[in-house]
Formats: sequence, C-alpha cells, structure tokens
Amino acid sequence: MEKIFANLLRRKTLESIKAQGDIENAEGHRLNRVLTSRDILSAGVAAIIGTGIFVLIGAAAHANAGPGIIISFVLASLACGFVSFAYAEFASMIPVAGSAYTYAYATLGEIFAWIIGWDLLLEYAVGASTVASGWSDYFQSLLRGFGVNLPHWMSIASVNSINGITSINLPAILIIVFLTYWLIKGVKHTARMTSIFVVVKLAIVAFFIAVGSFHIDPANYTPFLPFGWSGVLTGAGVVFFAFIGFDAVTTMAEECKDPQKDVPKGVIGSLVVCTILYLLVAAIMTGAMSYTALGGEGEGAPMVKVLNHIGYAWASPLISVGIVAGLTSVLIVTLFAQSRIIMRMSKDGLVTPIFSTLSQKFQTPTWSIVVCGIFVAVTAGLLPIDELSQLTSIGTLFAFIIVCVGVIVLRHKEPDQHRGFRCPGYPFVPVMGALMSFMLMCTMPSTTWIRFIGWMLLGLIVYFGYSKSHSRLGRS
Ligand code: ALA
Repeated sequence: MEKIFANLLRRKTLESIKAQGDIENAEGHRLNRVLTSRDILSAGVAAIIGTGIFVLIGAAAHANAGPGIIISFVLASLACGFVSFAYAEFASMIPVAGSAYTYAYATLGEIFAWIIGWDLLLEYAVGASTVASGWSDYFQSLLRGFGVNLPHWMSIASVNSINGITSINLPAILIIVFLTYWLIKGVKHTARMTSIFVVVKLAIVAFFIAVGSFHIDPANYTPFLPFGWSGVLTGAGVVFFAFIGFDAVTTMAEECKDPQKDVPKGVIGSLVVCTILYLLVAAIMTGAMSYTALGGEGEGAPMVKVLNHIGYAWASPLISVGIVAGLTSVLIVTLFAQSRIIMRMSKDGLVTPIFSTLSQKFQTPTWSIVVCGIFVAVTAGLLPIDELSQLTSIGTLFAFIIVCVGVIVLRHKEPDQHRGFRCPGYPFVPVMGALMSFMLMCTMPSTTWIRFIGWMLLGLIVYFGYSKSHSRLGRS
C-alpha cells in the first residue's frame, strides 16, 4: 500500500527538471529561444482579451449583477491577481513549457501532475473549441454586414440522433486549420501575427473607452446592486472567463530568451493591463446605459448597444472586428499552450512519445500542434458545444488552486532554492489565491460540476490504464 502511494506521489526534483533541460539542449531537441519580453506581454494580452470584454460584461450586468458587475470584476481580478503571483514564482524557478503541470510534478507528485495536465485540456483544448465556435458566430455576423450569408449546412454544427451530423461549422474548422499551419511554421511567426491582432483589439477597446467616458449618466448606477451580493458573486464566476489566459504565457518559457525574468513580468503585466481595461469598460458600459437594456435579443453585442445608444451607430461594425481579432488571438495562444503541455507530458512518458517530436526545420512540436488542431477543429466544427465555456472556467480555477498550493509546498520542501521572483505577502497571497479560486468554482452550476468530475474520472482511467506504467520517472 505504502509503495502504491509512493509511486503515485513520486515527484521530479528541480535538479532533475533542469538536468532534463540540459540533456535536451545537448541533443538538439529543444525549442527555439526567440521570444522577447514584449512578445510575452503581447501574448498575455492576446490570450486574455476576447469575448469577455466585448460581450460578457454587458450580458453578466444584465442577467446577474447590474452595475455591481464592477465589483464582480474586482473580485475575479483579485483572485487572478493572487494566483498570478504564484504562477510568477514558479515560472522564475521552473522555466519549462509545462506550466501548472510541471509545477505540480515538482511539488505534489505525479498523480497531481497528471490530474492538472488532464484538467488543462479543459482550459486549452476545450476552451479553444468553444472560442472557435464563438469566433465563427462573430465572423459570420461580420460577413452578413457585407451582405454575405453562408448556407446553413456550413454555418453551424448540429447533430441529431436519427440523421447524425446534419450541418457543420466550416468557418470554425477553417480558422483552426489556418492557425495550426502558422503555429507549425514557428513561434516567431506566430508572435508577429499575434501582436497584429492585439493592436487591433486594443485600438477598438481604447476607442470605446474614449467615446463612452463622455456619456456616463450617474443615474444609471442606481440601484447599484439590483440582484444583491449573490448576484455580484454569480457575476464574478461568469466574468472570470474574461481573465482566462494570463497563465498561458508560462507555457512559452522554453521559447523565451530570458524566461526567469520575462515570464513573471508577462503574467503579472498582462493581467494588470487587462484588469484596468475591464474595469474601465465595465464602468462605462453600465454608466452609459441602464443595465436592463444591455442584454436580451436584438442589436447584437452589448458594446454595440452602447455605441448605438450614445450616437455612434456608425462605429458598431468595429466591435465585430474587435471581437474577431480578439478571439483569433485567444485561439492562437490557447492552441500554442495546449501543444506545449502535451509535448511536456509526452517527454515525461505520460502520453505517447510521438507528441514530443520536433520539426527539424521549424523547431516546433509538429505532432502535438497537429493533433491539438484536429481535436479542436473536430469538436468546434462538428459538435454543438457552446455551453461548455463554464467547463473551461472550472477547469482553469482548479489548476489555479493546485498552483497556489504548490507554491506553499515548495516553500516548505525547498526553502533555499533560488527564486528569481518571490510571491509577495507569503503565505497570505497563495492562500487567498486558492480560497478565492475555490469560491469562484462554487458559483458554477451543478451541471458544470458534474461534467468536471466526469472528465476528471475519465482522466484517472487513462492514467491507470496507460500513463502510470509508461511514466519515465517511474521507469527510471
Ligand atoms: N479570456 C478569454 C476571453 O475573454 C478567454 O475570451
């Protein structure tokens, strides 16, 4: 019995992680170190700003929190802020591509690492599928603005039990194929393309803030909490989705020129930038028009409603462009992050070795990228999966808890290790990060919890069926 537990909790030491990195370098099996601190910061903003700011703020104000959505944002940002310090400490100590998966391997042991690796599939692969499906909706609405209507059979994924697949989401499939191709071509290409999308979406958000701030009517802030504090909490769980992504830059560590400095800066910096923008947009949206008019059918995204209301109807198409640019950049970073985590798990023997082969020409994990691309294209293109976005949130929050606990464990186990960045306010900050993440998990509906638990059980079957016996650490 003791031996079984020892096996499940076997852990990689920091020395062994570093030694593995040195061996990979010496053998030439390593990724290209080309990313600068600017690329990392841009990737963080790319991963974070998506539907959250353009759509979710207004929808959650309407349905959950009223103008109190501003407080929901403060709560979600505090949780993410605490967690970002924990990620930054790990990133400064363990600069490899596996992110929370590797951090768990170094602190809590293999079974926890596996659970997190499996859980991150929810954040990145399932997350990318839901984002691709949303991307397609906004892209099609942009096309309709130009008078182009796609035929039904290629515009939406639908399946029924009698006829099987009756229509597909072709735009979602095509965008994933296109981005997969770019990701294979190399990380520098990808970073360049990402920064273009980031500039476009930031310009559109800045435009909204600039024009909207002159149209705030304080009367719209009364009542401030029409749904009470419980509405604020539910709203925090909903808008948490808007913050997902800041942790993804930790998967870029192996491709970064100076990961121990730049990755912590990228994680915290991108979160700070996006939090400021979110709070401004939330205050302007709920101040420029009554929260009761922000949701519901008609006139499209809440931001479009605000622009129409304040006399800038001509600018509404910009919002569709902003959403499409935003979601494209979210997709790039999530697909990237997923491929790097699978690559790391494969190098550790927990998934098949084919995922760790690198392209000789581009020095990217080709198979890992292609298989992630196929998974996301198939789920987004063939299955109606829109409602799975909360599964992404709950999975991400769970990873956050493990990372916060991991920081505490490693401070105990290896107090003298050099830490390029130390989580401030220890142990208050990681404890609060874990508690607030758990609180946000508790705001999720029971169906999301059931799906989450089912997914985790499936992961344990795979671990005991394959990974445990193939583990490189176990065999050595
Ligand atoms: N944070 C990303 C978004 O808001 C996932 O779309």
